[in-house]
Amino acid sequence: MTQQATHSARAHITLPEPTQYARVMGIGAYRPDRVVTNDEICEHIDSTDEWIRQRSGIATRRFAAPEQTVIDLSEPAALDAMAMAGVGPDQIDVVLLATVTHPYQTPAAAPMLADRLGIPAPAAFDLSAACAGYCYGIGLANDMVRSGSARHILVVGVEKLSDFTDPRDRGSAFIFGDGAGAAVVGPSDFPGIGPTTWGSDGKDWDKIAQREPWTDLREAMESPGRADGIHWPSIGMQGQAVFRWAVYSMAPVARKTLEASGVTPEQLSAFVPHQANLRITDSMVKELNLPAHVQVARDIVDTGNTSAASVPLAMSRMLSEDPSLSGGLALQLGFGAGLAYAAQVVVLP
Ligand code: UT7
Repeated sequence: MTQQATHSARAHITLPEPTQYARVMGIGAYRPDRVVTNDEICEHIDSTDEWIRQRSGIATRRFAAPEQTVIDLSEPAALDAMAMAGVGPDQIDVVLLATVTHPYQTPAAAPMLADRLGIPAPAAFDLSAACAGYCYGIGLANDMVRSGSARHILVVGVEKLSDFTDPRDRGSAFIFGDGAGAAVVGPSDFPGIGPTTWGSDGKDWDKIAQREPWTDLREAMESPGRADGIHWPSIGMQGQAVFRWAVYSMAPVARKTLEASGVTPEQLSAFVPHQANLRITDSMVKELNLPAHVQVARDIVDTGNTSAASVPLAMSRMLSEDPSLSGGLALQLGFGAGLAYAAQVVVLP
């Protein structure tokens, strides 16, 4: 028997039926109760309410209670998204949780969240792409639904950045906040999620990064006489460098995403960029020449920068403030540590 004949006699692999289109079926949000003012932040750094508002746009942010975990923050956001989608726990096949602030190296937060929500035996994993994490997740969920590997996917972006921010660091203490946003992605009769533009630039990994690896902390703890050198490895940021990267590199990513989807700025109803800094948002709006009717997310003013949670938090707020946006097109764009970015055009649920 020839090799060819042996091969053809073997069984073929059966593939799942692909689904033509996917969409965001529902979206949800959770903001912790505690409102933290700039004046409170300035108790620990040499700064002022006026400087923080002018340079970042932030007036207040929310901090979770000390005992609240990223699972606690995610649960109400996920329940909101599932209710809006009309999808029950037993219909979710995959839980995909984007975060950089789950304090366990292992296991991931996603299986714990699934257990909390009563989702039986889903594929569940965490995704570490910082402020781009939610948009990475929506891109993956779209591909999973369309390839037939899953039907309904819960995508969560959640951060408890207050645990990983140094309140005495003048360069970052005022910028971060806590919160969670979630979406359910599932099959659709129309294209509800456009092609994802995504990428990274690892040579600039140190522009936003945990200051030391965990192993340095262990070394400090285990070396006699070095105990004084122990400090929590919080997240540090070279603000100006990240600012420049965002301002110069993200408008072209937004433009490319619109082109890949065949959507013009005039056809957009909303622009939901990562809530990094109000000045970055304003400069992108100008650079993209967005028409006046396009609603621009400015959730940062009273939510701060919540990394992976910022896009779904901002989108959920836009939809609750103006339900007529539902069915319109939104350009969403996440960018940050990695450096990593991801963007797509979505039909608003
Ligand atoms: O989410 C991930 C992505 N992250 C981002 O996209 C964040 C990007 N970066 C930023 O948003 C901005 O860089 C910051 C808001 C973090 C800082 O604003 P900036 O305009 O870039 O400030 P800067 O670092 O250029 O500092 C300007 C001045 C300096 O003083 P001199 O040298 O001009 O006298 C700083 O010493 O402001 C001073 N400064 C402050 N003053 C009061 C720096 N930090 C503070 C502060 N309060 N907290």
